[in-house]
Amino acid sequence: MRKSFVAGNWKMNTTAQEALNLARGVAAGLGGVACDVAVCPPFVYLDAVARTLKGGPLAVGGQNMYFEGKGAFTGEISAAMLKDVGCRYVILGHSERRHIFGEQDALINAKVKAALAAGLDPILCVGETLSERDGNQTLGVVERQTREGLQGVAADALPRVTLAYEPVWAIGTGRNATPAQAQEVHAEIRKVLAALYGRNAADAVRIQYGGSVKPENASEILAQPDVDGALVGGAALKADSFLAIVKAAK
Ligand code: PGA
Repeated sequence: MRKSFVAGNWKMNTTAQEALNLARGVAAGLGGVACDVAVCPPFVYLDAVARTLKGGPLAVGGQNMYFEGKGAFTGEISAAMLKDVGCRYVILGHSERRHIFGEQDALINAKVKAALAAGLDPILCVGETLSERDGNQTLGVVERQTREGLQGVAADALPRVTLAYEPVWAIGTGRNATPAQAQEVHAEIRKVLAALYGRNAADAVRIQYGGSVKPENASEILAQPDVDGALVGGAALKADSFLAIVKAAK
């Protein structure tokens, strides 16, 4: 049985004070929640948020990182730095990284391996654009991103990886995938994982759905058999709406 996992991706939002308030607000509402929950604030607030949440059940994650350990990489943050300030997770290959910043599968794969080596649990994002969906390429794109993102990841590290299916056309648009569309792609991702690692290993991996998840649509999407949680953007910026999604998780 997979334990659900809901993560809030705050993207480039909040002030320092808002970040602390939001983190404390989420933490305060988690009583009795059985699933794993994380918040992913901007880099500059990670340290303060992680200190505030230390010892509690609400985990902290980064939104990105670079794969090199250290050195002359101006503007970048390493896996060890994220770990050092108290992160457990890191989001990698988010569609905004892929499409605004030009990140490709090989780079994302290097980041996944570096995260695992540093003791961070990666959330590997995959998902098709609208033109890929309209061109019937969804399953092929998601298969490629999953295979290439996980290349060289050993079977014993796989349980630490979370996949996040985020159709690009559903992110920040208010237009979510239908529960059936989400389930179809999640089942395909699990098939790819089974081909790579075997059925039992694939059955243990958590696959989040992301893209305009809100309190109003969360229960239906999260009830799908292969949907094991959510990666939430806009609705994660208010403690109430994020908590309502967390409570809708299995
Ligand atoms: P959204 O973002 O919930 O605002 O659509 C999701 C994401 O990008 O992770």
